Amino acid sequence: MSAVMMPGGPVADAVFADLAPRIEKLVANGHTPGLATVLIGDDEPSARYVAMKMRKAEELGCTSPHVHLPQDCTTEQAIEAVQALNADPAVDAMLVQYPAPAHVDFDAVLLAVDPDMDVDGMHPTNVGRLALGLPAPVACTPAGIEAILAHYGVEVAGKDVVVVGRGVTIGRPLSILLSQKRPTANAAVTLVHTGVPGWAEHTRRADIVVAAAGVPGMIQPEHLRPGAAVVGAGVQYQGRTLLPDVDESCEEVAGWLTPRVGGVGPTTIAMLFRNFVEAAERHADDG
Ligand SMILES: NC(=O)c1ccc[n+]([C@@H]2O[C@H](COP(=O)([O-])OP(=O)(O)OC[C@H]3O[C@@H](n4cnc5c(N)ncnc54)[C@H](OP(=O)(O)O)[C@@H]3O)[C@@H](O)[C@H]2O)c1
Repeated sequence: MSAVMMPGGPVADAVFADLAPRIEKLVANGHTPGLATVLIGDDEPSARYVAMKMRKAEELGCTSPHVHLPQDCTTEQAIEAVQALNADPAVDAMLVQYPAPAHVDFDAVLLAVDPDMDVDGMHPTNVGRLALGLPAPVACTPAGIEAILAHYGVEVAGKDVVVVGRGVTIGRPLSILLSQKRPTANAAVTLVHTGVPGWAEHTRRADIVVAAAGVPGMIQPEHLRPGAAVVGAGVQYQGRTLLPDVDESCEEVAGWLTPRVGGVGPTTIAMLFRNFVEAAERHADDG
């Protein structure tokens, strides 16, 4: 068997195709969406990541005010910068780039972001709203994973999903998302982690396995039920080399598989922009 590949690119394209006319409508009605970016310090990959988001926002006809705080900035200064953006009527949503220098209390900075402007869906208020099933910006990578499975026709409702890793970026929010009562979710979700040494017994019976541990090569063919859908989200970088959780040999056993490159990454970005445009639409309606 050779798995059907599930690249994220076409899924992201579909999301952007949906967002483009919505942005045009906002602009035509006098509300140009603004995505603020905050970079603390001199981390080069972070600077590149932020620049890419700003380019994308501008390509889409939005504005992207940017705040670059110096490496020696204090937590208080970072919080003040965030508060100024919260109060700026030209800003609809904001991205505070991780990581910050070690002396900055990043959680405190994130907590200062107005939850309504939280483009990452990581503010505790939004994670709480997700758990309660209330509308909120949803964590981008989990939202992208749900969209990938839906796009490629992988049935999730009523199925056994095993998520490997209970991290706050992917595993934990994804487990909530896929257990919600919606046609593209509604699954029996099991979350495994280092506290479950027999995790492979769970993955071996799963219809869908999502790897979000950040342990290179952790998922091997013998950990899968033949025909299962496998989403590889966890990665580690060795220099610029990407080391995924899911070993490439899984292609011979899986029914569906995200590719090593161009899997969940593109959909994570698309979902960030979806959160952004939804925030702009709320603000345009309010204003
Ligand atoms: N592709 C993307 O767009 C994207 C976006 C964001 C993050 N990521 C990647 O996704 C991964 C997860 O990120 P995260 O922030 O959600 O999680 P995280 O905080 O990195 O936590 C990793 C989780 O994996 C579990 N784990 C680690 N080793 C394990 C093992 N040997 N057996 C079973 N479970 C194990 C940990 O268990 P314990 O809780 O017991 O320690 C923890 O719950 C990372 O590799 C990150 O780089 C990718």
